[in-house]
Amino acid sequence: MMYRSLVTGCGAYLPAQIVTNAQLAERVETNDEWIRQRTGICQRHIAAEGEMTSDLGVAAARDALDAAGVAAGEIDLIVCATSTPDETFPATATRIQHRLGVPQGAAFDVQAVCSGFVYGLSVADNFLRVGQAKKALVIGAETFSRILDWTDRSTCVLFGDGAGAVVLEADKAAASANGSGRGVLSTHIYSDGSHHDALYVDGGPSSTQSVGHLRMEGREVFRHAVVRMAEAVDAALEANGLTPGDVDWLVPHQANIRIIESMGRRLNLPSDRVVVTVDRHANTSAASIPLALTEAVGDGRIQSGDLLLMEAMGGGFTWGSALLRW
Ligand code: UT7
Repeated sequence: MMYRSLVTGCGAYLPAQIVTNAQLAERVETNDEWIRQRTGICQRHIAAEGEMTSDLGVAAARDALDAAGVAAGEIDLIVCATSTPDETFPATATRIQHRLGVPQGAAFDVQAVCSGFVYGLSVADNFLRVGQAKKALVIGAETFSRILDWTDRSTCVLFGDGAGAVVLEADKAAASANGSGRGVLSTHIYSDGSHHDALYVDGGPSSTQSVGHLRMEGREVFRHAVVRMAEAVDAALEANGLTPGDVDWLVPHQANIRIIESMGRRLNLPSDRVVVTVDRHANTSAASIPLALTEAVGDGRIQSGDLLLMEAMGGGFTWGSALLRW
């Protein structure tokens, strides 16, 4: 390994409009108590009319660049994880590249739904490790409100809009340090297309020539999520010769508080070592991990030297984990 990727800054953006459970209960047959008890969600942010995924992504990326003290002109790779691109093509990442004023390098989208950030981090980390890029932006940006069926109470209460981003920089010194060094220690990503029908969008350019709506068998996804994410977490710890006791922070995908808490218990982590945003953000798909990370870094919970564990599961199915020394 020639280089290791260091996260040198992270950033977030949430649309201004907040929609509470009570407000949703005016639109569909649901109630605040059901949503809180089953999911932990109290509210979500929804993008304004005309506000696009790229707008959210640009704002989060600028925030991350500021935090890292990196100028847009230094970035040579932009990976945007999204399942709600502005347009079918080109990649939302290219619009973000242009809006940021990045004059060089490659920009493309990664599509792994709720696992998108872990996938994007994995892709960018591998570019940096081999020296194919030096400074990358990994962005998770989503406007799931645009693909929800607002008459389906079993899905429309679960999601929100938002974006998060990290700046990754290739670092030689970190690579020569042993396992205790800082940076992205490992990423593990997986998929299994046989579970398509449990979570998908019933539209697209080559099937229906329309955008379609999100469809989910929640219970089925829940069942697989707990098992698959646990496997990915075990793989991450084993690959680094670490044990659950070494983990300082779980920074999980935010789909459901019950899934998050079960992973925390499995790792034997006290609940104040698990970063939770699902109550305020709902499920923002690929944006949820960088949003949670930015919150916990911003308020000083995550400190230099801490070991961070990320995990996610999404449509495909896709799933994965990442271990980072902060
Ligand atoms: O991020 C991508 C990955 N996605 C996930 O990880 C999501 C995983 N799944 C989940 O989080 C949960 O399965 C849900 C939150 C989606 C659903 O929770 P659940 O405890 O699995 O509920 P359920 O689907 O089994 O539904 C229980 C009952 C049903 O009524 P009956 O059939 O028992 O009479 C539903 O019709 O709750 C009913 N229900 C609702 N009631 C009030 C479903 N949605 C609602 C609602 N308000 N919004």
